[in-house]
Amino acid sequence: MKYLIRLSALLVCITPLSLVANPVVEQLLQDYKQQSPDRPTAAKGKSLWVLAVRVQGVDEKRSCTRCHGDSLANDGQHAKTGKTIKPMSPIVNARRYTDAQKIEKWFRRNCKWTWGRECTADEKASFLLYLTTSTD
Ligand code: HEC
Repeated sequence: MKYLIRLSALLVCITPLSLVANPVVEQLLQDYKQQSPDRPTAAKGKSLWVLAVRVQGVDEKRSCTRCHGDSLANDGQHAKTGKTIKPMSPIVNARRYTDAQKIEKWFRRNCKWTWGRECTADEKASFLLYLTTSTD
């Protein structure tokens, strides 16, 4: 009986957001939501993740996968330094998305390098939804 109660409590808690997201990610998602009327989705995050953009003055198209690789479950390789970047999925790398300042810092830096501009709140929220729920 005790087990059943716990199980139903657990099922009630399982919303798309709490599936893998931790408190840091949930807080960021709430902040982004306040900044944008759009509805972020993991599907949008996935297509933005592979979106290749040619920034003015740069003679290649760049996407997030340029450094983070083709799978969130595998290591990536930094395009400039060649250094290994650990997997982006928190499902295989538990240290991911545990520090809001780190997340914001890298969003800023990586969006600028990849797309030549900062990402919007809706884009960042969509990225987080995708990154925390997928191992694609
Ligand atoms: C030039 C290489 C490069 C590109 C391109 C790149 N990243 Fe990164 N990213 C890094 C590095 C290096 C780190 C920090 C090391 C780490 O966390 O493993 C990082 C970390 C992150 C983090 C922090 C993860 C955490 O655990 O807190 C996020 C979020 C992120 N990147 C998102 C993106 C997004 C979104 C894009 C595309 C717009 C992108 N990155 C493109 C190199 C890159």
